[in-house]
Amino acid sequence: MLIAQITDVHLGFEPDNASEDNRLRLDRVVAALDALSPRPDALLVTGDIADRGTAEAYAQFREAGSALGCSVYCCPGNHDRRDTFRTALPQPDGLAGFIQYGFDLGELRVLVLDTLEEGRHGGSFCESRAEWLAAELKRHVDRPTLIALHHPPIASGVAWMDPAPAAPWIERLSEVLRSQPQVVKIVCGHIHRPIAATWQGHGVAVCAASAAQLSLDFAPIDPDTPDGRAMVTDAPPAFALHHWNGRELVTHFAVAQDAQVLASYDPDMQVLVRKIAAERGPS
Ligand SMILES: [Fe+2]
Repeated sequence: MLIAQITDVHLGFEPDNASEDNRLRLDRVVAALDALSPRPDALLVTGDIADRGTAEAYAQFREAGSALGCSVYCCPGNHDRRDTFRTALPQPDGLAGFIQYGFDLGELRVLVLDTLEEGRHGGSFCESRAEWLAAELKRHVDRPTLIALHHPPIASGVAWMDPAPAAPWIERLSEVLRSQPQVVKIVCGHIHRPIAATWQGHGVAVCAASAAQLSLDFAPIDPDTPDGRAMVTDAPPAFALHHWNGRELVTHFAVAQDAQVLASYDPDMQVLVRKIAAERGPS
């Protein structure tokens, strides 16, 4: 089972430009996913699809994503707006009033969470969303479960983006997800960087953005003193691939950028391939 993830597409950042950079970057990601063999079984989109939540941006995303020909599942990020999101990108039924739902991918159960509080940059996770999550986990307690949400519940080290570790929404999420061995991974976006972490005993994979990336910068930041540091870069558009092998959910981070081939599968490389296969033994 191969699940592709893209995040932070931010279509409509330049609302009057149909060929804006963010659309061109999305097209590069879609082309890279389309070229994969085997192809992804599903696409997860972890929020900030539209920079300003406009219907036009969601329509653009639907058009671009449909080229992949696989099921597309989306959750909202802090830039999204639920009303226009729902109209353009209908999702499976779930918790009323939110874009929070579950679905099956083979033996995997996927729970897509809504951490949006419109007008707020950081995450939100109220009592009703937490109760829904707890009930869903209980209902499918024997299923390996992937959790997808926009806001990572971790302190990434990119200080200006990080939540308070004891933020109420993180505490509430933590109460539900700790001691839940059925959870095989938590996948997120929001930081515009590729990050792997652990949280409450679970692996966390943060996919880098389809749109612009943030600088890798752990230096403290003073909200009162703009010091001219680099904050946003044009590093290549990115995606993640999560491979469920029946035991583990293995995450690969990738960028949509051509790379020069330095070795091909020729008789020289065959020597190495045969050696590794012999060491591994029969499967
Ligand atoms: Fe974003």
